Amino acid sequence: MLYIIDTANIEKIKHCIEYYPIAGVTTNPTIISKEHTDFIDLIRKIEDVIGNDRMFHIQLTGDTAEQMMEEAKALRNVIGDNLYVKIPVGEEGLKATMKLHKEGFHITETAIFTQQQALMAAMAGADFVAPYVNRLDNIVSDGVNVVGEIASMFQRYGLKTKVLAASFKTAEQVHKISMVGGHAVTVNPEILESLIYHPLTMYAIDDFKADWESVYGKKTIMDMVKEKEQ
Ligand code: E4P
Repeated sequence: MLYIIDTANIEKIKHCIEYYPIAGVTTNPTIISKEHTDFIDLIRKIEDVIGNDRMFHIQLTGDTAEQMMEEAKALRNVIGDNLYVKIPVGEEGLKATMKLHKEGFHITETAIFTQQQALMAAMAGADFVAPYVNRLDNIVSDGVNVVGEIASMFQRYGLKTKVLAASFKTAEQVHKISMVGGHAVTVNPEILESLIYHPLTMYAIDDFKADWESVYGKKTIMDMVKEKEQ
């Protein structure tokens, strides 16, 4: 499963890519606006930090397919081939998706809440569809089940489109996505960190350290290797 980070904060992106196996960055207009800075300068900085090998998903803001296509072309000139244009699903979005797909753009259809929206986006040529798990859970729908059914449909029809599950509030939601065949998740840095946190892991590491120090004091493995080399 691909782990992607859902933030436009440069310091957080730097931290996450240094410590975690991160496949890319996703943003949306809400995430961008939280940084209160020039949009083009910001996406250029993010691109510099993540490099060409990681995906960079940027949401378009145009209302019509024509506006979206114009934005997609302009953004590709700024970002390059690792750009994935995020397009909200809808009639204009699907029209833009079909045309941009034919022109070789990478596309992530976003704001997906139903299985049929996802299937339609896949048939239009989207590379990823992004169903919103927590927002579905908030309305007493079952976000994980929706993701699972989308993944099964794509497999059944032999579609290459991947499910990029989005909108998470808990580590448990993320884990369940990996159990139902989600191909990728995008999570904020706080959720990402919570995925590897466990108090028993911390206790275990502390115990190992205490047992080592009870015999060898503060000497490290490297101190001992160097002693033998002398
Ligand atoms: C990503 O594609 C979505 O825009 C994002 O994950 C939505 O998350 P939220 O429901 O926490 O705003």
